[in-house]
Amino acid sequence: MKEKFAPSLPEPSRMVHALSQIGYKLENAIADLIDNSITAGASSVLIRFLHDGNRLVSLAIADDGHGMTERGLSDAMRFGSAEDHSKGGLGKFGMGLKLASLSHSDEFSVFTRRNGRNSGKRWTIENLASGWLLETLDSKVTKPVFENNWADLDLGKNGTVVLWDRLRGFPQHKKGIKSGLSLIERRLRLHLGLTFHRFIEDGRVHIKMDQQEINRRTRPFFVEIEPLNPFGYEVSGSERFPVRMRTPAIDGIGHLEFDAHIWPSKSEEKEYRLGKRAASHQGFYVYRNGRLIQAGGWNGLVHDDSEPHSSLARVCLDLEPKLDEFFGLNVQKSAVITPIGFQDAVKASESECGLSWEDYRKASISAYRQSSEVFSQPVPGKGFPRKLQQAYKTENGNEVKLSVSESQADPVEVDLNSRTIRVSSQLRNVGMSKATDSSWHAFTILLFETFSTAFARDSLSKLAEQKLHALNKSLSYLEE
Ligand SMILES: Nc1ncnc2c1ncn2[C@@H]1O[C@H](COP(=O)(O)OP(=O)(O)OP(=O)(O)O)[C@@H](O)[C@H]1O
Ligand SMILES: [Mg+2]
Repeated sequence: MKEKFAPSLPEPSRMVHALSQIGYKLENAIADLIDNSITAGASSVLIRFLHDGNRLVSLAIADDGHGMTERGLSDAMRFGSAEDHSKGGLGKFGMGLKLASLSHSDEFSVFTRRNGRNSGKRWTIENLASGWLLETLDSKVTKPVFENNWADLDLGKNGTVVLWDRLRGFPQHKKGIKSGLSLIERRLRLHLGLTFHRFIEDGRVHIKMDQQEINRRTRPFFVEIEPLNPFGYEVSGSERFPVRMRTPAIDGIGHLEFDAHIWPSKSEEKEYRLGKRAASHQGFYVYRNGRLIQAGGWNGLVHDDSEPHSSLARVCLDLEPKLDEFFGLNVQKSAVITPIGFQDAVKASESECGLSWEDYRKASISAYRQSSEVFSQPVPGKGFPRKLQQAYKTENGNEVKLSVSESQADPVEVDLNSRTIRVSSQLRNVGMSKATDSSWHAFTILLFETFSTAFARDSLSKLAEQKLHALNKSLSYLEE
């Protein structure tokens, strides 16, 4: 009789191909290795680019963490290694080291040292495909790795070096290796500075990068990655924020708390711009054990993730270890999958002082709107007395013109389309013919100030309309 269950093992070469295509961006892959270094208690991590003057040959990531024993290394190299993740480290799946490495290299080795004892293992796609054949590296290979200098890292007793060879999918530059490397370094500064900003800020870890030309004996100099705190503004964009908000209880999870922030408008800070388009950086910043997982995005709460009017809104959500089972994580650790009920709970959240989620959204939009008004701050332009123009002059001023017009029904007209305040020639030449220069100046200042808000907003408010009406009524006697 046929057995009901029989093993049906994956076909290794197809499997390896699939695993290497899992969709890691370079910066996510490197961040995954740095997670491991930090969890191993490293105080310094060095990312080293090894090139031959023309192309990138290898990439090494060294750390001065506690390293691994030979047995520990064997387990670490397994797909689905068996580390206990309940202690609040940065690992979760037992896959990061392997998948991140395979996403950008066809061959990777791990050299590690624990209490002065070296071990080394290597995976290649060929050995994986021929039936998961893990290679053990002998001391002739491992020893020189630890004799090498790794910037200012001390690997004398403990430490780990992950080496990627036969690289794949690295960003390139048509101007050659130097430009290619500076492109990569720029991307890493941004991504790693952001992802690990809390660790870098409090000195728990230093992340460094250097470049070494192989077969040259020069000692490369390293640069250190600076922290980029996405909440690192000096003055809030709205007086009532930031505030801590609390959701109603979500089934099985309980209350969630998060901090609702509003950036000051028009910020040029690198922490606000985060590369280029700040609008695409609004939304949730989700941290897991201090490491930033998700940098922006509304997780379905808001229709458009980069709607310019809500650019200033950033929410800080810290996931404690006990929430790990409720919030999903993609393998690349670049986004969280929120639990059922999350969106409704956030929409119903409130601060202690009674601010609602809607109040927060509105405050962030209004902070943004006010800023666009400042940008288009009207200034008196052509037709206004020259002294007045000079007195208001600003760099970004949005000019409003003054003209005297022959044919118009009312003494004063406000034309938003042509951005002009028109005074009838009747008023100017007849009614104000005896006016001195200074009283004409004063009159134009008052006209300008009365309607400047309308030009800033590009619309006449009810109040402005009433003022215009009242003004015309009282000025009409001057025209007679
Ligand atoms: N730099 C390192 N120093 C010390 N131990 C390490 C290092 N890198 C990996 N390890 C060990 O190897 C194990 C496997 O690492 P891997 O990144 O594959 O999985 P993980 O970190 O456990 O989970 P995740 O898939 O979420 O990253 C780790 O749990 C850790 O025990
Ligand atoms: Mg890991």
